[in-house]
Amino acid sequence: MAAGDALLLEIRDLGVSFTTDDGMVRAVDGISLVARRGCTLGIVGESGSGKSVATKAVMRLLPANARLDEGSRILLHREEGEIDIAALPARSRELRRLRGGDIGMIFQEPMASFSPVYTVGNQMIEAILEHRDHLERRLGERFDRRSAREHAIRMLERVGMSNPRLRIDQYPHELSGGMRQRAMIAVALSTHPSLLIADEPTTALDVTIQAQILDLMLELQQELGMAMLFITHDMGVIARIAEEMAVMYLGRIVERGPTREIIREPAHPYTRGLLAALPRLDTARRRLTPVPGDIPSPLQRPAGCPFHTRCPRHMPGLCDRILPQDTDLGSGRSVACHLFGEAAS
Ligand SMILES: Nc1ncnc2c1ncn2[C@@H]1O[C@H](COP(=O)(O)OP(=O)(O)OP(=O)(O)O)[C@@H](O)[C@H]1O
Ligand SMILES: [Mg+2]
Repeated sequence: MAAGDALLLEIRDLGVSFTTDDGMVRAVDGISLVARRGCTLGIVGESGSGKSVATKAVMRLLPANARLDEGSRILLHREEGEIDIAALPARSRELRRLRGGDIGMIFQEPMASFSPVYTVGNQMIEAILEHRDHLERRLGERFDRRSAREHAIRMLERVGMSNPRLRIDQYPHELSGGMRQRAMIAVALSTHPSLLIADEPTTALDVTIQAQILDLMLELQQELGMAMLFITHDMGVIARIAEEMAVMYLGRIVERGPTREIIREPAHPYTRGLLAALPRLDTARRRLTPVPGDIPSPLQRPAGCPFHTRCPRHMPGLCDRILPQDTDLGSGRSVACHLFGEAAS
């Protein structure tokens, strides 16, 4: 851990709904999370649990049919003061400055974040120049086109790109998958963000390159004292890089706390199911094998605990009626399950 436990991002009661032709989709149902400087928060959960929607909300990159709950708070604690990202006007200058400035992001598919018609270098230089005020605050250096190019080359070198002086003038499609992923990380990190949001950044890569890229991200994180929100299906990746984790199910966080403790002794039946379904944490591939049963449609969320329809410990009359609230388990852990709540005792 590079820096102390200073809070960087505080998400409070974040809720996101989509209006669709079939009705209202409640994708994120009131979640609260914190990310600390220099630390990584891992978010796991099966497909459709709302991980991407939640992180897109942090960047305010949701599509037009999405609505943030009135009471959602996305507080970014910066040296210049605190800012509520949820309250910023959609097209504000402030938001544009945050994206790619204070907050960097990497996605699963690197092609999606590059334009095919510009060279990698041009896109990096544009990003650096667009965020030059932020970079000046972080590095004490003011960039022009020429020094931005040098900075871009250094970043490409930093992410292990061979021959960066040549690569910088190539187009995204001229790079291999692994190189594109590195380039995307270089772009995201070239503005020295204080928070990096990584949505399954290594899923598309083979295991060896995946491990290299994770090591690289950890190294850069230490160097820059950056906080990371890291989304993955892979519990092994979480175990390796995230000090703290949150487990999402159907738009809610069902369990959170220090990764090591949750893996050693999971509390929520869903977390227990996810971990029991894993082979062993030290084997090569540790993707989530879903717990038996299907995830209910977010168009028809179950009443009570969202997991009760698949839960081996379901208590009829309680779990199917009352939504469990977070119960504090001590040592920074909490769980939303009636087995631990007051209603159970
Ligand atoms: N633009 C949209 N319109 C309507 N519903 C949407 C939209 N985007 C996402 N959703 C719904 O929101 C829910 C959460 O989706 P999200 O992409 O956040 O899941 P996820 O946890 O990231 O899954 P995965 O692991 O597959 O990436 C899903 O039910 C999804 O269908
Ligand atoms: Mg996703």
